[in-house]
Amino acid sequence: MTTISQALTQARHQLQTSSPSPASDASILLCHVLDCSSSHLIAWPDKQLSDDQSQRYNALIEERRKGKPVAYITGEKEFWSLLLKVTPAVLIPRPETEILVEFALEALKHNPKAEIADLGTGSGAIACALASEQPGWHITATDTSAEALAIARQNAETHQLHNIDFVQGHWFEALQREDYDMVISNPPYVAAEDPHLGQGDVRFEPDDALSAGIQGMDDIEAIAREAADHLVAGGWLAVEHGYDQQQLVHDCFARNGFVDITQQADLSGTPRITAARKR
Ligand SMILES: C[S@@+](CC[C@H](N)C(=O)[O-])C[C@H]1O[C@@H](n2cnc3c(N)ncnc32)[C@H](O)[C@@H]1O
Repeated sequence: MTTISQALTQARHQLQTSSPSPASDASILLCHVLDCSSSHLIAWPDKQLSDDQSQRYNALIEERRKGKPVAYITGEKEFWSLLLKVTPAVLIPRPETEILVEFALEALKHNPKAEIADLGTGSGAIACALASEQPGWHITATDTSAEALAIARQNAETHQLHNIDFVQGHWFEALQREDYDMVISNPPYVAAEDPHLGQGDVRFEPDDALSAGIQGMDDIEAIAREAADHLVAGGWLAVEHGYDQQQLVHDCFARNGFVDITQQADLSGTPRITAARKR
């Protein structure tokens, strides 16, 4: 028989060389098997696992050891304090995308009835976060992937968010309106030859959600080219981008006639969000 403490120690050891976060992975996966909180693991270190629990835990640790992201193993990821379902059909929502959500909430805080288009919604992370914070807003969430939209719809249903419509289609082709207050997107922005695509958790995520041409700018360029046709005067375009794309995105927005260009940095001080207004 194995105790909680022994199982965690063993798992941490097994994940040492394959995961950048062995301790937290071991803890999250054991909570998943035991269906408990992390405080339970701390409170009951000597509690014994049943044979079935031990076997299931070992199987999950083995999956993680082979590189599968923890969120794809558990099938869930927290974003903006909403627990979202994720599968390998969607990008695992990232903390930096919460900066985009914060920006939208601040920029439109005086508009109780904002119309927003979330392009490339994936798991529905951005749309669900905005919808949960502002029930009076209406969000149109799009994606080319039918599988992603099915997950996003489930997430909205789970959290009882009724102010989101989901539409399948290529960027603006999915949209019916020309009077959005904000077009928001975390589009694919990784350069096609970027070695990161072959490393770590990213290897398991859908390529369509990640790579965007030689400089990683193809999708941001496509969105910036057409966004003004779908925004009210003064409406916002806000996108997430790579750590080294701030100048490219700034120039792209300026070239497409956007004004009041502003950039928001992540916790390390690197600009990861660019937003601007239609004149
Ligand atoms: C980086 S992921 C972002 C997912 C989600 N918004 C998030 O922040 O976690 C980009 C998403 O854009 C979608 N996508 C890629 N090309 C697209 C296109 N041409 N039109 C609409 N969506 C697209 C992908 O399927 C993927 O779900």
